[in-house]
Amino acid sequence: MKKVSIALLGCGTVGKGVIDLLAMNGPLIEEQLDTEITIKRVLIRDMPKYEQMELPDDILLTTDFADIVNDDEIEIVVEVMGSADFAKDCIEQCFKKGKSVVSANKDLIADYGMPLLKMAKECNVDFQFEASVAGGIPIVRPMYSSLNSNTMEEIIGIMNGTTNYILSNMTDTGMSYETALKEAQEKGYAEADPTNDVSGYDAGRKIAILATLGFHSALTFNDVSVEGIENIAQEDIQHAREMGYVIKLLAIARQDGDGISLNVHPAFIRKGHPLANVGGAYNAVYVRGNCVGDVMFYGQGAGSLPTASAVVSDVMNVILHCNINITGSRDFVWHDPKLKPQDSI
Ligand code: NDP
Ligand code: HSE
Repeated sequence: MKKVSIALLGCGTVGKGVIDLLAMNGPLIEEQLDTEITIKRVLIRDMPKYEQMELPDDILLTTDFADIVNDDEIEIVVEVMGSADFAKDCIEQCFKKGKSVVSANKDLIADYGMPLLKMAKECNVDFQFEASVAGGIPIVRPMYSSLNSNTMEEIIGIMNGTTNYILSNMTDTGMSYETALKEAQEKGYAEADPTNDVSGYDAGRKIAILATLGFHSALTFNDVSVEGIENIAQEDIQHAREMGYVIKLLAIARQDGDGISLNVHPAFIRKGHPLANVGGAYNAVYVRGNCVGDVMFYGQGAGSLPTASAVVSDVMNVILHCNINITGSRDFVWHDPKLKPQDSI
């Protein structure tokens, strides 16, 4: 049996999920790949904090990235730290050293996904980021593979688990915004800075990533018009309910003539619409292709093991050499958003 050594950059909600998932499903994964995957090193910042965690004895903890990038045995690096600048620098160094990278970092990929894919190709390594959109839901890969025979018409969905958790609890249990946010943080759904969730930035980054892949166009977070849920109060929820609606934070990418509009905003959704029933930290994404019609993806959009599921399957794809191959070459004119926040669906 072959052996592949990997390293983790970060050991928080997602990193620990990757360790747990490999412990749970290692034999099944080895059987499929005829390869044993070993986590050799983990980059952390605060040694005493992580020494107290119950991590497998054979994992070497380090606070120095050089220990990882200069270790020739490590073939694949899993970046699950978050933020952009340091993570980008680490990933570029890995590519230069011939190491493939798997990342869950939408902040980074929404802004630098295309240049990093280009660099990975030049360095003859892989770069995969399934977990960067909608946690455990397989949505990134269908965009560049299973649905790539279609002309994309629309991508619309609930893509942030934290805000959906908050809005669902405010609707179903009358919970306050603050309590629901605290619970979402405790459950590991929220970003390190939850402002990214509630302001709609996180969903904005995800729609930029999906639209880049689905519309073959190099779009970034700057192209997205964003409004968050910070101003939604219990009285708005009640008002929506009286009219037969629920409020959800939607992310929408739409082909619009020769342009694309990219929006994130709270919207009234008719009760009975499938998106109205997406509760908790679940996400749902509708995709409309010109030949396939409507396809819906639904599942856990955040959390330790669901996200690790996407990360580890990326690691497996790197081992199997299933590369992302997109050009981002189509030039769309960006259009002002047509759908206004007050519009309902
Ligand atoms: P956490 O904050 O739980 O964990 C981040 C980890 O990275 C911590 O171990 C942290 O160490 C470490 N870290 C951060 N910066 C550095 C650094 N400069 N050097 C060394 N270690 C560092 O985040 P998550 O696990 O929740 O998220 C990780 C990534 O996955 C993010 O990009 C996030 O957007 C993405 N993601 C998260 C999902 C989720 O459900 N949580 C779902 C999908 C994607 P320390 O303890 O010292 O802070
Ligand atoms: N903070 C994100 C969310 C994690 O709540 O959806 C998954 O990307």
